[in-house]
Amino acid sequence: MSERVTCFEEDPRLIKVDNLAYDIYRKGNHKAHNYDHARWDAERAAEISMIERPSFATLTVAAALMHDTGASIGEYKDHGCNSGVLVRMHFPHFGYSPFEVGLIARAVEQHNQWKHTNDVSRILYDADTLNKAGEHGIQQCNLVGEEFGLPLIRKAERFSPYFRKLFEKGYYTDKAKEIDLRMGNERFAGLEMTVAFWEKINQLIREGTLQEEEMMKVAKIEVGLTQ
Ligand SMILES: [Fe+2]
Ligand SMILES: [Fe+2]
Repeated sequence: MSERVTCFEEDPRLIKVDNLAYDIYRKGNHKAHNYDHARWDAERAAEISMIERPSFATLTVAAALMHDTGASIGEYKDHGCNSGVLVRMHFPHFGYSPFEVGLIARAVEQHNQWKHTNDVSRILYDADTLNKAGEHGIQQCNLVGEEFGLPLIRKAERFSPYFRKLFEKGYYTDKAKEIDLRMGNERFAGLEMTVAFWEKINQLIREGTLQEEEMMKVAKIEVGLTQ
């Protein structure tokens, strides 16, 4: 399990949020939309917000911890909305003001949408998009595929246009752009690598000469990954 992110000590409410999130994700027991993923996003959210919007740092960490909890309590398609329901239900009891509850709930509701109406929402979007970047992002795609039982052809159909759209939208913050570069290699920036990987897989599927495992190997070599 990941280390606790730094700003946890500064805001004791985050201990309650972390415990709640951990319990909900554990019940869901998902391959991709789980506590480890939320912790990864929370660490990136802390890193971004401490530079870009320090006064919102602990709020963005709380939003990141909660953002996918909805996937453990209902249909995946409703998960952003259901995560918001959980925030609105529990956070007033943890000491969050109505204003803070509103910011965090809107952020988790909007995390998988294209419009983000406050800075908590924009930083959460950046953190969750970074999770899809580079080699780490390709591994996350495979976990999502396992969670939904998708064969490679379905993953490519789903991820290729989606990642292209994320790449074209870009990040809100300069700090996220910097982390994205760190997640890439000498050939590609982070999210650019994931896009190139899935476009190569699509090309190989159209050519139809290789088995799934070979396609994965060829696409990894194409984007400069060795294994
Ligand atoms: Fe999500
Ligand atoms: Fe997520």
